[in-house]
Amino acid sequence: MSDGRTAPPHTGVEIAGSGSALPEHRLTNAELESLMDTSDEWILQRTGIRERRRHDTSTPYPTSDLGTAALENALDDAGMHAEGLGLVLCATMTPDSPTPAVSCRIAANLGLRTTGAIDLNAACSGFVFAVSTAHAMIASGLYDSIAVVGVDTVTRHCDYSTFGRGAAILFGDGAGAVILKKTNDTAKGMLAQAMHANGNGAKSLYIPCGLDQVEDPESHQAEDGSGVDPRLNDKIQMNGKGVFKFAVSKFPEVIQETLDLAGLTADRVDHYVCHQANARILEAARERFGLPESKLRVNIDRLGNTVAGSCPIVYDELKRESLLEPGQKVMFIAFGAGLTWGASLWQI
Ligand code: ACO
Repeated sequence: MSDGRTAPPHTGVEIAGSGSALPEHRLTNAELESLMDTSDEWILQRTGIRERRRHDTSTPYPTSDLGTAALENALDDAGMHAEGLGLVLCATMTPDSPTPAVSCRIAANLGLRTTGAIDLNAACSGFVFAVSTAHAMIASGLYDSIAVVGVDTVTRHCDYSTFGRGAAILFGDGAGAVILKKTNDTAKGMLAQAMHANGNGAKSLYIPCGLDQVEDPESHQAEDGSGVDPRLNDKIQMNGKGVFKFAVSKFPEVIQETLDLAGLTADRVDHYVCHQANARILEAARERFGLPESKLRVNIDRLGNTVAGSCPIVYDELKRESLLEPGQKVMFIAFGAGLTWGASLWQI
């Protein structure tokens, strides 16, 4: 065991390919100004976001289609056919419908008829939790190859009026995917991981499906007195300040925890692939660990918060720009609804 590796040492696991997919439409801050009382300056100063992608609202736009496109690109990158996959694991909090799982639809879109498929919901932490889970399944010998998809189309749960502006400005749609494969190179694989959740924070960030689920219904009454304001139903509700405070403390904490588990100092990690929720949160973490900008990529200005799509999209950008080298160490880090937070540190 080298570098404090805590994963089972008998099997190497490699990230054999990556891919991503985004809707065409760029929802700019200027377009948001036309929909609600907000300003480019307000959004940019507080979040660092200039634009995000949004699905075409005039046609059905399943989460599974976006996830399929990302996975097809990852399979191409890995030089593999879908038939070579042992399992499809999809992280999402915005399924096409409560059942079946998005992963089942993705597998079907790829022509698979018997391959196992599972969804995992840890909101923005979903991909990070899923990639650690898939690693364990390969390292234990259960599977040789697993596709891990992170996809969300959360803009369908945003209220694009002044009423819902606090959350709506943050989110974009997007998908990323990686192919994990067993390899004889035992230096490759996960070095350490952490997964955390605190359900007491459930109402800090949630989507009420049914108005009976709204936190504090008394203070959210419709103006006509007909009951709870219907604009809340199925739309994301967020205590922005609360989530900000939670993220600013947990983000560096889980980075340090994972470094400690691996017995590494922060400078030994080549890329911090972080969930993109707020440029200020990313900047605070970067300064806390004294990292150069090149080690912590920020794409929130272009894509906003794509929830489970966020980390694999960043990874895929690094890959496509040839910034990833064999032997490098990459840490995936995220926090999100649940509340959840976690990290997964890899030698690639
Ligand atoms: N445009 C203009 N004004 C706005 C907007 C907007 N879009 N949204 C809110 N405001 C107003 C508010 O009404 C308020 O006005 P008031 O003082 O007159 O009441 C004022 O701006 C300040 O609002 P706050 O919500 O206190 O603004 P804050 O400085 O906290 O910034 C923000 C809000 C950007 C949402 C910040 O709290 C944040 O980034 N939080 C973290 C959120 C996050 O990361 N969520 C994703 C988690 S990941 C997942 O799992 C999905």
